Amino acid sequence: AHLYPPNLQNSCLRQAKCRAKGGAAGFKVAILGAAGGIGQPLAMLMKINPLVSVLHLYDVVNTPGVTADISHMDTGAVVRGFLGQPQLENALTGMDLVIIPAGVPRKPGMTRDDLFNINAGIVRTLCEGIAKCCPNATVNLISNPVNSTVPIAAEVFKKAGTYDPKKLLGVTMLDVVRANTFVAEVLGLDPRDVDVPVVGGHAGVTILPLLSQVKPPCSFTQEETEYLTNRIQNGGTEVVEAKAGAGSATLSMAYAAVKFADACLRGLRGDAGVVECAFVASQVTELPFFASKVRLGRQGAEEIFQLGPLNEYESGLFCLLHLCFQDWLGESEERVSWKH
Ligand code: NAI
Repeated sequence: AHLYPPNLQNSCLRQAKCRAKGGAAGFKVAILGAAGGIGQPLAMLMKINPLVSVLHLYDVVNTPGVTADISHMDTGAVVRGFLGQPQLENALTGMDLVIIPAGVPRKPGMTRDDLFNINAGIVRTLCEGIAKCCPNATVNLISNPVNSTVPIAAEVFKKAGTYDPKKLLGVTMLDVVRANTFVAEVLGLDPRDVDVPVVGGHAGVTILPLLSQVKPPCSFTQEETEYLTNRIQNGGTEVVEAKAGAGSATLSMAYAAVKFADACLRGLRGDAGVVECAFVASQVTELPFFASKVRLGRQGAEEIFQLGPLNEYESGLFCLLHLCFQDWLGESEERVSWKH
């Protein structure tokens, strides 16, 4: 049911089997919203990923073109395109990992909250498909507002009886990627050598970079701490304003999504010590969902790490975050019950 003629479809199937026999660890990955600003570069980067044997690209528009284009790349993954709701089930069947950047992006003046009503409906439909066709897949949810779309997805999976909290991961990697970049700039280091834990949520003051836990160990003046915290929390707005009506972060987001998806796939393969930040169901704080460092393994987020010691500045931000989060979650609970 994908977009190739039948003869080519068969040869693609043969190709996928033959590559799997070749011994390559091959995971099946679907991208939902693959024709969008994030989806396209994300699809391109996943086609390069050697852990991917089959790549399904689903969107409600333009997947034939994106699929044809990406399928010409001479890398291992076999690419198939799926267009529109009637093809959603075929896109999802058999997938190990589903990455969701479907939805509308933020426009200038729009808050992540404004996106909620549109994106919640989209995420709900897609997650109903996942519950039906690949209930064991790991889900990487990118669609904003992540603080609310993840609780919505959890409700959909609970209703379907397929909810595994370890396998539902809100993608906050862009906050970490930005934090590493901005901190490296201040320290005069290569960003690849910097590791900044970013915890909390994925909107404004709910984003809490733990600058006291940066690796390599370092210290910041109060002025640097405030500058960095503010820039990391408002990195999304910086891009929205610079793009001036032409969308939000897409290229850096695609990079961050691939960095995170690759970590999930290495975990699924059984690699030891794969640790990244993600927004997950959590008991680390009183909040039901919270981003923190998680260890990724065969079952998804197998271990969720405690926050570690916070300094006075971070404790203050944590209290603020806590208050804001209660609003977010309260609202999303209302909307979840309203949607159902
Ligand atoms: P975009 O508008 O360029 O692309 C979204 C794609 O989703 C479009 O191709 C659209 O056709 C597709 N889509 C819409 N409804 C769909 C449905 N029912 N099923 C499948 N696909 C559907 O938007 P962009 O810039 O790619 O952003 C996508 C989402 O990612 C937005 O919600 C945005 O706010 C969010 N985002 C998340 C970030 C994060 O750090 N988690 C960072 C940046 C953006």
